[in-house]
Amino acid sequence: MFDPPIGDALQQLRDWNAKIAIILGSGLNAIVQDPIESIDYAEFSEIPKPRVPGHAGKFSLCEIAGARVIFAQGRVHLYEGYSAGEVTASVGMLSNVGVKKLVVTNAAGALSEKFKPGDWMMINDHLNLTGTSPLIGWPEFLDLGNAYSARLQKQFCDAARKLGIVLHQGVYAAVVGPQYETAAEVRMLQNLGADAVGMSTVLEVIQARALEMEVAGFSCITNLATGLSSTTLSHGEVLETGHKAANDFSRLLGETLPNL
Ligand code: HPA
Repeated sequence: MFDPPIGDALQQLRDWNAKIAIILGSGLNAIVQDPIESIDYAEFSEIPKPRVPGHAGKFSLCEIAGARVIFAQGRVHLYEGYSAGEVTASVGMLSNVGVKKLVVTNAAGALSEKFKPGDWMMINDHLNLTGTSPLIGWPEFLDLGNAYSARLQKQFCDAARKLGIVLHQGVYAAVVGPQYETAAEVRMLQNLGADAVGMSTVLEVIQARALEMEVAGFSCITNLATGLSSTTLSHGEVLETGHKAANDFSRLLGETLPNL
């Protein structure tokens, strides 16, 4: 299914021998501290380079509390004109270099009235409203019954409680974008049972599950969705709130990663 080039960059990723990778969404780059090495996505012909501000476009090799991890800093989106296969190419690459556990993060708008900007929501299920799948062309009837690992959810939950970090749980709805939702769409998503809305993640999760990776997902709530607040939505606001919330998530990773 996945046919990478054999080159120095790939060998470097493989030699790092990380079993855990973390994909960072908009504005969450501050989570990466003191990387031992960074490898630009441009080194891999099948991974498109992100163009959206806040998405760096590189793999960073880090050690967190003794655990080797690969951060995928930035992603590409359907709304940039990429296919589901291109959007998920980095997941195939991570699997190919030996990653078994994938933590996906994103910036999302709150649909639940309980959430406020700067909070984190652990994703316990998703609605794929993108109209596509990375498995198109690879007819695999994948079971998504436990797309988000119950084991990992418990570990992150326990860690958040111990650290006193608010960690909501809920359903993430993925839309194509790039426009934000109308107020009517927000009501629809609430009625469908979603707690947060964003423009990424679900295709990566589907691809990761197809490659038998264990998955955890997190939404950084960067804003209240349209109609739930009177402020105008902007990508600048999303980046700024993401940056502030990064500190909580770093602490959560420090507590959890050694036990994953
Ligand atoms: N809607 C969709 N995607 C988003 C939002 C939102 O309100 N905030 C950050 N990403």
